[in-house]
Amino acid sequence: MADKDNTQEAADYGIGIPVKRHPFFLKGLDHVDWGMKDRLSRIFNPKSGNTVMLAFDHGYIMGPTSGLERMDMTITPLIEYADCIMCTRGALRSIVPPTSNKPVSLRYSAGTTVLTDLNDECILDIEDAIRVNASALAVMVAVGSKYEAKTIENLVVTADLGFKYGIPSLGVTAVGKELTRDARYLSLACRVCAENGATFVKTYFCETGFEKVTASCPVPIVIAGGKKLPEDKALEFAYLAIQQGASGVDMGRNVFQAEHPVAMIQAIRAVVHERCKPKEAFDLYRQLSSTKTS
Ligand code: R5P
Repeated sequence: MADKDNTQEAADYGIGIPVKRHPFFLKGLDHVDWGMKDRLSRIFNPKSGNTVMLAFDHGYIMGPTSGLERMDMTITPLIEYADCIMCTRGALRSIVPPTSNKPVSLRYSAGTTVLTDLNDECILDIEDAIRVNASALAVMVAVGSKYEAKTIENLVVTADLGFKYGIPSLGVTAVGKELTRDARYLSLACRVCAENGATFVKTYFCETGFEKVTASCPVPIVIAGGKKLPEDKALEFAYLAIQQGASGVDMGRNVFQAEHPVAMIQAIRAVVHERCKPKEAFDLYRQLSSTKTS
């Protein structure tokens, strides 16, 4: 209740004490708005500075990929171990319990599938992204393909909407037969995403020169997993990527196609958040695999 009389006089003005400042923990993002920082702090762990994102958006270009035939059975048990989920609005509404309360990196661009020619994409309606409370808008960017201009335009429009509503945009460097995955190409593609307004960028790890890819990208990079590898190899490249400057992973097949997906995502977490060495993480994977709910 608003009281005019008999109130305690304000006296503690902290005269001479500078106002506490809170530098933001993610690189290149000191000057984005409060809402965007709030969403980014849900995606990335402010303590480790990193994130484990679980990607299961493959169906939008590949149909019922192995491991995603029944997402209600295979993905739902993994959600609690992810810092953020990356999926289409279709998957979100049909199999993700809203009570899981995880930040969503919404697959925000869509278009052609593996049956034709990838990357001829449009973007969704921002109102629907807001309706599902998206924490990031993920857009494919196909630098060097015939859809380069179209996908960069998609990113530019998305970044503009993202800045307007405080929602981070995630530039996803595209896959495609004609697109190489060496440090030179990935540096160019990631930099193009960042310069055009992406708040963070998703790309692939490369064995040579990956530290140049992360160093030359002014905003955080998360890596995709790519095709399924043996679990120890997947943990090893996640470790190398983090060591070389990645701020996390956005992994799909190497988690949900693992022999023990629940154990695998926990082992990945150990690498990403605790910088656990690959061998220790693999030991953890084996140990967790022997439990019932792995
Ligand atoms: C990328 O654009 C795809 O939609 C997937 O989100 C991405 O490739 C991550 O999945 P995976 O780790 O299986 O490559």
